[in-house]
Amino acid sequence: MERTFAIIKPDAFKAGNAGKILARIYAEDFRVVGLKKLYLSKVEAEGFYAVHAGKPFFDELTTFMSSGPCVVMVLEAEGAIKKWRDLMGATNPTEAAEGTLRREFGTFVGENATHGSDAPETAAFEIGYFFSGLELL
Ligand code: TYD
Repeated sequence: MERTFAIIKPDAFKAGNAGKILARIYAEDFRVVGLKKLYLSKVEAEGFYAVHAGKPFFDELTTFMSSGPCVVMVLEAEGAIKKWRDLMGATNPTEAAEGTLRREFGTFVGENATHGSDAPETAAFEIGYFFSGLELL
């Protein structure tokens, strides 16, 4: 079993889509190992996305991620990292395949409804950024 880190981003939360996204997560047989609602500060969002620091979209991205509540989760499944990225679809919702979460709930590249780790090392960093071991028992 593999674990990945996922976020229901502020756009999807604000639009009332958190429940629908969670229903898809359960329907696809992920185990929700950890889940909490957070309202990130700009500094917390910058720390999470530190790998993108210096990129042209960094300020817009971290302002967006701290613009309202989000839901952070640890999801477990066979091949969870790829499975969750496949369910999310492409980064740009207009390029995401029919039936993916970003296609259904995203608006544009800057507000694309969900986040998912892209590799085992990033999953480990991202899970540890938001959850303690005790929260994932
Ligand atoms: P990235 O890690 O490239 O995509 P993904 O979330 O699919 O792993 O980028 C992180 C986030 O940054 C992305 O979800 C949305 C935002 N972003 C922009 O706003 N503009 C861009 O041009 C890119 C590449 C990303």
